[in-house]
Amino acid sequence: MSVRTGTLAPDGVRVMFDRIAPVYDVMNRVMTGGLDQRWRGITARAVVRPGDRVLDACCGTGDLALAGLAAGGRVTGLDFSPRMLERAREKSSQVEWVQGDVLALPFADGAFSAATVGFGIRNVSDLGAGLRELRRVLAVDGRLAILEITQPQGPLAPFYRLWFDRVVPLLGRVLPGGAAYTYLPASVRRFPGTEALADQLREAGFAGVTYRTFAGGIVALHTGTAA
Ligand SMILES: C[S@@+](CC[C@H](N)C(=O)[O-])C[C@H]1O[C@@H](n2cnc3c(N)ncnc32)[C@H](O)[C@@H]1O
Repeated sequence: MSVRTGTLAPDGVRVMFDRIAPVYDVMNRVMTGGLDQRWRGITARAVVRPGDRVLDACCGTGDLALAGLAAGGRVTGLDFSPRMLERAREKSSQVEWVQGDVLALPFADGAFSAATVGFGIRNVSDLGAGLRELRRVLAVDGRLAILEITQPQGPLAPFYRLWFDRVVPLLGRVLPGGAAYTYLPASVRRFPGTEALADQLREAGFAGVTYRTFAGGIVALHTGTAA
């Protein structure tokens, strides 16, 4: 289990996010040039209909849950890091914030009509089990959106490698919890590419799986419907 290879035990992931909670939002804005909030808005609007009961899993400091709220959902945000959740709670009392593990969601089968996961599923120790658990808590025809960093194949690939493998870990060195920013590029490298993730979603019980990419293929949004 190591930061360098992007594989950490669940406790290691939780402790890492507890440590970076104070700088997490600022780092997001810096690393994406402020585009991350736009991607969250697109993600929420892709699956949330007004009045939907929505789960935002791995909600962290809550920005995607808030995007679900803005899209008209009644949102529950879930995360296993208490420090990330503290930040989320400061942002809204309209979202129900729950501490819990995406691998053992504390909700009944079919409890939600939409679910979102932003930059979170990559950190889950068993991806297949996480996707099956999300499927379980969605009603049939419920919609899932997964926003995640991916590895671009096209002309941006060298720029991406420079930014992610060199600059981001350097930024991390001057910030608390800097190991997280060594873990980040490594975790992206070991995460399935866009086609492979689409296949895993189908295997977990989702139909109509499609995806689109942002920022020249650095970020992908997958959507599917609970079959
Ligand atoms: C990179 S942050 C993403 C936060 C937020 N969704 C966003 O859009 O910025 C990943 C979050 O996933 C959470 N996480 C990782 N594994 C988890 C698990 N098994 N159960 C619940 N939360 C988990 C971490 O605690 C962390 O807050």
